[in-house]
Amino acid sequence: MQKIISALILAILIMIPSASFAHDEDESKSAFLVVSFGTSVPEARKAIDNLVDTVKKEFPSVDVRLSFTSNIIRRKIQKETGESIPTPAQALAQLNDEGYSYVTVIPTHMIPGEEYDEVCNVANAFGGISGKFGFEEVNVCRPFLDGVKGCEAVADILMKRFSDKLKDNETAIILMGHGTPEHIANAQYLQLQLALNQRAYGRFFVGTVESAPSINDVMAELKRHPEIKKLILSPLMIVAGDHAQNDLAGKDEPESWINILKKNGWNEIDTYLVGLGEDENMARELVRKIYALYDAVSEEE
Ligand code: CO
Repeated sequence: MQKIISALILAILIMIPSASFAHDEDESKSAFLVVSFGTSVPEARKAIDNLVDTVKKEFPSVDVRLSFTSNIIRRKIQKETGESIPTPAQALAQLNDEGYSYVTVIPTHMIPGEEYDEVCNVANAFGGISGKFGFEEVNVCRPFLDGVKGCEAVADILMKRFSDKLKDNETAIILMGHGTPEHIANAQYLQLQLALNQRAYGRFFVGTVESAPSINDVMAELKRHPEIKKLILSPLMIVAGDHAQNDLAGKDEPESWINILKKNGWNEIDTYLVGLGEDENMARELVRKIYALYDAVSEEE
C-alpha cells in the first residue's frame, strides 16, 4: 500500500511539475541547492547552467540555487568576473537565514567519490542542527553513476549521444572520467564499462585521469580490438573544462591522452569536447534523480 501511495504521489508530481516539493509544507519553504565542482573555463560553464536551468523549468515554484565546491575556482571567478558563487556551506547558511525549511541538495557529480562524500558531510551537518539555525530536513540526491541502475542509465545516454559515430564499425569512443584514488566508488567506472559492453561491445573504452582504469588500461583493451581504426575522445565529466582541454585533448601536453595514443600508433583521432551537462538526456536524468529521492524519502516516512 505504502508503495502504491508513493507511486501515486510521484505520478502526481510528474504530472504537475509545479507541485510543492518535499512534504505538504508551504512550497516557498523549499529550496534546491545544485552543487558542482565548478569550472574556470567560461565556455564550459554552459554545461552547469543547462542542468540548473532544466531543474528550474521542471520545478518553477522551487527556489534553485547554485554552489561550487572548488575554492580555487570560486576565487578565480570572483576575481575575473566579480561573480560570487558560494560554497555548499555558505549556500545552506544563506538559505537558513532566508527562512527555508526543506532543502534538497543536488550534486552534479558522476560518482559517489570523495567530493560527493564531502557534499554529504556538509548537508548532514546542517541537517543535524536543530532550532533557529537548522532546517526541518536536508536531503541529498544520488550521483549519476550510482550502482547498476545509474550506470545503465548513463550507458543508455552515451549510446544515444554517440549513435551517429557508432554506425561506423571501425570507430571507438574513448571516455575520460575523473577518477577518485583510494575510494571504492572508483569501481563505478567498471560498472559503466560493463553496461556499455552489454550495449555495444568493443565500442566504448572508459578510463580516468586520476585513478584506474588508466590510459594504459584503455590501450591494453584497445589492442584486443584490431578492427578499431578510428578513435573519438570525449570527457565523461559534466563539464569539458581543464581536464578535457589539456589532459585529454591537449596538443602541446606530452602526457595528454591524444598524444599518448598517437605515440602508440593510433593515428585517426577526433575529439568531442562537450560536457555531459550539455546533454539534454543527462539533464533529464538529473531531474529523474530528484523524483527518485522524493520517492525514497516519502517511503521512509
Ligand atoms: Co581534477
